[in-house]
Amino acid sequence: MDGLDTLKAGYLTRISDAADEAGLEELRLAALGKKGEVSLKMRELGKMSPEERKTAGPALNALKDEIDAALRAKKAALADAALDERLKAEWLDVTLPGRPRAAGTIHPVSQVTAELTAIFADMGFAVAEGPQIETDWYNFDALNIPPEHPARQEHDTFFMARAEGDERPPHVLRTHTSPVQIRAMTEAGAPIRVIAPGRVYRMDMDQTHAPMFHQVEGLAIDRDLSMANLKWVLEEFFSAFFGVKVATRFRASHFPFTEPSAEVDIQCSWVDGQLRIGEGDGWMEVLGSGMVHPKVLAAAGVDPDQWQGFAFGMGIDRIAMLKYGIPDLRAFFESDLRWLRHYGFSALDVPTLHGGLSR
Ligand code: PHE
Repeated sequence: MDGLDTLKAGYLTRISDAADEAGLEELRLAALGKKGEVSLKMRELGKMSPEERKTAGPALNALKDEIDAALRAKKAALADAALDERLKAEWLDVTLPGRPRAAGTIHPVSQVTAELTAIFADMGFAVAEGPQIETDWYNFDALNIPPEHPARQEHDTFFMARAEGDERPPHVLRTHTSPVQIRAMTEAGAPIRVIAPGRVYRMDMDQTHAPMFHQVEGLAIDRDLSMANLKWVLEEFFSAFFGVKVATRFRASHFPFTEPSAEVDIQCSWVDGQLRIGEGDGWMEVLGSGMVHPKVLAAAGVDPDQWQGFAFGMGIDRIAMLKYGIPDLRAFFESDLRWLRHYGFSALDVPTLHGGLSR
């Protein structure tokens, strides 16, 4: 058949020059589509003599196959080129330095709360909680501080406002964690062994006092607990907390909710202006304590003829400052990161219960 070579050469050139898949499809239709040039020539076979058909048939088939193969090859080549383009466009320089991410640190009060909770847990103390907005009954009356008692004045209490005409005593921001003693005993009865860490509030503000601070209450009630048990528990606690053997000194004191009452000092010394806990013959006051007053037990529904025990209350911020050598309250309120890191607080440094403390 005439012109097949020209036809073929024409298509092969156009196929190899095709810019994209749409162009290829156009060429396929022009050659091999129903009305394509090759298809039309195929149709002419019918009019040929058998002799002519014998040579023309295979030639046309070969042409069709070649064009088809060229189309496929070109299509694959275009896809390869497209992929290369994409890989070039999406190239990523993994050698660029990373962008630093801001990381916080754990707050000293949170860390120390976790530490002391773990230590008391080892001695069988569970954690109890109470509200920060208390009724004056829980904060005062139940703790043997009746309305006209002078201790109420000493507490520098924040009072919540009552609605006009409501003559009931106002709620207070709890001035200590001792009301949790009442709540815990009312709920669980005796025997009981709990600590109650949390926020407390007093109208007080200077270099070493803030209107909100943290206390941890301790309470242990059983058949025959004594001040000796209290002393042992506190010395165990301070030794574990500070990581050195710490002696305690009990000084007679007064709290309405304990009898007898004691203020407790821990052993310390100052060397070149540096505080050393558990060394020397100096003493530093850290907490109030005593044997729970029978009236307090009774107010919480615990029979004082059957049960007795001890309670203590300690400032968490204060022991945090002592342990980590933090000289003022800036770390707690501004929580300046450089400041906190200077004192060694980091995001991942969390104490574990049984693996010992992390510092
Ligand atoms: N609640 C007392 C205070 O805030 C501390 C304390 C607690 C004293 C328990 C004795 C027993 O100062």
